[in-house]
Amino acid sequence: MPSDVSRSTDRERQSADRSSLMTLEQFVIDRQERFAHSTGSFSRLLRDVSVAAKIISRNIRRAGILDVMGETGTVNVQGEKQKKLDRIAHRELVRALRKGGECCMIGSEEQPDTIPVNPNGETRERYAVFFDPLDGSSNTDVNASVGTIFSVYVLPEGWEADDVLDVSLQRGAKQVAAGYVAYGSSTIFVFTTGNGVNGFTLDPSIGEFLLSHPDIRIPDQGTMYSTNEADIEDFSPEVRDFLRWLKRANPETGTRIRSRYIGSFVSDFHRNLLNGGLYLYPASPYHPDGKLRLMYEANPMAFLVEQAGGRASNGHQRILDLQPETLHQRTPLFIGSESLVTAAEAFLQGREGEMMGDGADL
Ligand code: AHG
Ligand code: MN
Ligand code: MN
Repeated sequence: MPSDVSRSTDRERQSADRSSLMTLEQFVIDRQERFAHSTGSFSRLLRDVSVAAKIISRNIRRAGILDVMGETGTVNVQGEKQKKLDRIAHRELVRALRKGGECCMIGSEEQPDTIPVNPNGETRERYAVFFDPLDGSSNTDVNASVGTIFSVYVLPEGWEADDVLDVSLQRGAKQVAAGYVAYGSSTIFVFTTGNGVNGFTLDPSIGEFLLSHPDIRIPDQGTMYSTNEADIEDFSPEVRDFLRWLKRANPETGTRIRSRYIGSFVSDFHRNLLNGGLYLYPASPYHPDGKLRLMYEANPMAFLVEQAGGRASNGHQRILDLQPETLHQRTPLFIGSESLVTAAEAFLQGREGEMMGDGADL
């Protein structure tokens, strides 16, 4: 067979393989009845988020050509400088959710107060959505990967507009869906509705998210840890001891743990989710409650990691059991492979002898 013919056959096969992948929309419709809070409205909510993600992705991919790099000159409620892409991502998510009309309250990192989507009580559904529109945004000007994180709750029957924040601030265990979009070497949308974790890669040529990572499971053991080691002198003695322990060679396998820190939680989390590992942002004098925010960073990722077989803790308690009090509250975070989070907790709770005694595996 002439080589150009065989090449075109290969191309056809590849294109057939790609088109046989299920789209995010098909997947949600197919599985609708398996979702605990499944309604057409929930499918539309997820579609709204995915449409905003595509627009954000397009803006990020064209950063440097479009005027979307740099700062806006304003700071957000946390006192952090807002990047233009922070504002763009926030605006696109709010716009998509407003247009879709499926949610009645939005909480965003980039807005001090909650955003009532339909204050006149005409909202058809009862979803509250929290998001970090652009995570790791210090990376936007240097072409490193960033992400979007979202978390969805159902409001109780008979909720009143005046109490919308109070009734939305539920324990993470009450989430009905959570996910993130990582804008990396490709754009991937990863989400859970409490029935496993699935990842969909954006095929820019057809503008669809396609199921590329079905049923993601995090390895129980991992060889990567991610933390801002520049803060090590500020970490508690327990955290420092844990990190020293972590760095020792594994006596069973001789494997040495490696360090990877992008400074973009979504990207560090995504890598650790696929390969096994631990992300930690402990408390320190600069961040007495840790840095990451419970409602739109820790909770959604904790839901995802548990659904993938991993764990998330503040060192003493399961993240998903924490009762939130404010929209932007922070929490120390240890999240990732089961064995690594369990080891971190042992050190923080003064039970490190359990890890030393038997030369436990990482
Ligand atoms: P954001 O860009 O949404 O404010 O989040 C930044 C977070 C997180 O993505 C990252 O892991 C962490 O802050 C990095 O903080 P340090 O620079 O203190 O390491
Ligand atoms: Mn963030
Ligand atoms: Mn952010």
